[in-house]
Amino acid sequence: MKVLIVGGGGREHAMAWKAAQSARVEQVFVAPGNAGTSAEPGVKNVDIGAEEIDALVALSVDKRIDLTVVGPEAPLVGGIVDEFRQRGLRCFGPSREAAQLEGSKKFSKDFMARHDIPTAAYRSFDSVPDAERYINAVGAPLVVKADGLAAGKGVLIAREERDALEAVRQCLESNRFGSAGSTVVIEEFLVGEEASFICMVDGSNILPLASSQDHKARDDGDRGPNTGGMGAYSPAPVVTDALHADIIARVIRPTVLGMAEDGISYTGFLYAGLMIADDGAVKVLEYNCRCGDPETQPILMRMRSDLVELCEHGVSGRLDEVEVEWDPRVALGVVMAAGGYPGDYDKGHEIYGLDRAASAHVKTFHAGTQIKDGKIVTSGGRVLCVTALGGTVGDAREAAYRAVSSIKWKDAFYRSDIGHRALYREDL
Ligand code: AMP
Ligand code: GLY
Repeated sequence: MKVLIVGGGGREHAMAWKAAQSARVEQVFVAPGNAGTSAEPGVKNVDIGAEEIDALVALSVDKRIDLTVVGPEAPLVGGIVDEFRQRGLRCFGPSREAAQLEGSKKFSKDFMARHDIPTAAYRSFDSVPDAERYINAVGAPLVVKADGLAAGKGVLIAREERDALEAVRQCLESNRFGSAGSTVVIEEFLVGEEASFICMVDGSNILPLASSQDHKARDDGDRGPNTGGMGAYSPAPVVTDALHADIIARVIRPTVLGMAEDGISYTGFLYAGLMIADDGAVKVLEYNCRCGDPETQPILMRMRSDLVELCEHGVSGRLDEVEVEWDPRVALGVVMAAGGYPGDYDKGHEIYGLDRAASAHVKTFHAGTQIKDGKIVTSGGRVLCVTALGGTVGDAREAAYRAVSSIKWKDAFYRSDIGHRALYREDL
């Protein structure tokens, strides 16, 4: 069969790499892909952007694609699954309506409130004076979130009331995020340890993937500005078996049932970003209607089952018939980014040492790379995710960093402490 992966980041490289290993698959297309996917056996890049939904539909008809899997949120929120379904094309992901769980913070918070799913206390506003009254009444610290998609930049943690008010003004008055910021959600600041819980959902059945954790802050010690993720590992030791059961019972199942009750059946990957308090209480920080990036890279390194077969079961409502088999080892991925990211950064620097980094237990997934004049050059903020398997967190981390140290380009940077929480738990 022929499979199409929509997107061009590290997550999509991992999906394409994994899909190409399926015995059922003769060809994987990636739109638009990157330098990494173009070099992958059995994978072919197609020069169509992830948000060009009409062109992707046309490609699927033309190439007789049997199954499409969508990586990023923007096409999902834009309705790509509805467009594919209307033409009888199989596409694993949520409909436009269901993708609002990620596409609108207000929608997701109201949904959680309605269905008793634990989350931070909140209110939403579209006028500054009302928001100001609320901020002064509840006091800082607070978290201010633009309602719509803001490429990971729409969340501000305000230590002081005046910072919260400034963030509200940026959204509602200065239109900093355009229409994505015409409503804001203001919520309680939560403390604890974050974990990513990603499942496959087919409308009613839930198939959890292995647990994972990412590092959102740019700098060591989880400091500095928020990014899309500077590294990730799987499993996340904070998610014990008891907690896993609790997350399914209190968060994932009520989410899937709640959506069905509201008449919006949810199919696709469902990602709950969780905050786990010291006493083990779980609250949902956010939903994503897709797999995480970079969490997918270590998760798929560990997946022994056939991803394509799982997605086929997902689109046909048969996830109850399958189980996922995991490599018991730890996988840990270190993101190598362009200097300046998540702010402005250069593009076009040649990347050296990729061959030296490769080994049986190390896979370098590309994100912001392209081929120019026969050379692999940087083309984005997050450039690579160097992912390694190891018997322990320490082993996986050592192998990943050994590979990282052999890759070079001008102004490359990365965190040197990916996995520190898991390592700490391992040493206990
Ligand atoms: P979100 O896009 O809603 O997940 O927010 C991005 C990041 O902001 C999260 O991964 C957390 O690190 C942080 N964050 C979001 N909401 C809260 C909250 N209520 N309390 C503390 N941190 C938060
Ligand atoms: N790594 C966080 C995300 O994919 O949203």
